[in-house]
Amino acid sequence: MIIQAEKLTKKFGGLTAVNQVDFSLAAGEFKSIIGPNGAGKTTLFNLIAGAESPDGGRILFQGEEITSLPQERIVRKGIVKTYQTSQFFPSLSVLQNLSIAAQPPGSWRLLWTGKGFAQKTLTQANTVLKQVGLENAADSPAEALSHGERRYLDLGLALATQPKVLLLDEPTAGMSPAETRQAARLIKHLAQEFSLSVILVEHDMDVVMEVSDRVLVMNEGRIFAEGSQQEIRRNSDVQRIYLGKGRAAC
Ligand SMILES: Nc1ncnc2c1ncn2[C@@H]1O[C@H](COP(=O)(O)OP(=O)(O)O)[C@@H](O)[C@H]1O
Ligand SMILES: [Mg+2]
Repeated sequence: MIIQAEKLTKKFGGLTAVNQVDFSLAAGEFKSIIGPNGAGKTTLFNLIAGAESPDGGRILFQGEEITSLPQERIVRKGIVKTYQTSQFFPSLSVLQNLSIAAQPPGSWRLLWTGKGFAQKTLTQANTVLKQVGLENAADSPAEALSHGERRYLDLGLALATQPKVLLLDEPTAGMSPAETRQAARLIKHLAQEFSLSVILVEHDMDVVMEVSDRVLVMNEGRIFAEGSQQEIRRNSDVQRIYLGKGRAAC
């Protein structure tokens, strides 16, 4: 397993957002997490990516404990998360944003002083630019991008760090169903091309069923069900959660 979490727990005051969750991700696996709003999906992501510290449990990366390591050390190991809302420098160009993300953490001064280093970073940024299909927007300020393009920039910012494990938190938020399908196919393609291990939170069930090796269902901080696409599709309890609370409420 590339990621193994045991009995992860995170509380916010009296609320247990993630409750004794056991989670594992195999190398190269594409696993989606679904569940209603407030189920604890983002909190679980934040724990794995080091953006939050758990109140209980532990997390292993390739067998090594990474629980509560600072986030930049976790990023350096290759575990990278995108956010539900875009994180970029609005007035810098798309290529500049990708170049910044492509630098190893703590090396920003080298970008300006080391020519060979800067060239390598720029090459990496240009490669990612093509992968996410933003070539035509390379020199545009990030703030000038359309909503859909911003989501591709978010994906590019994560890819630029050359991750091993990619955590994507609703990368298609705000996209139409057709755009969502296209974005999810690109993500799947990139994951296969670079042998990435992926954890995806996505509310479009059709897309989830199309791209995922396995699906995990969360509800009220706990894992409610886990299985192959077919198993999850057939699970009547899962249908009840979704039908009961509304399909769009993820
Ligand atoms: N920083 C926080 N402070 C307090 N409560 C939080 C915080 N983050 C999340 N929560 C609460 O934890 C629960 C799980 O939230 P979240 O992980 O964002 O769920 P999901 O991503 O599945 O919608 C929710 O009830 C939410 O309000
Ligand atoms: Mg969330």
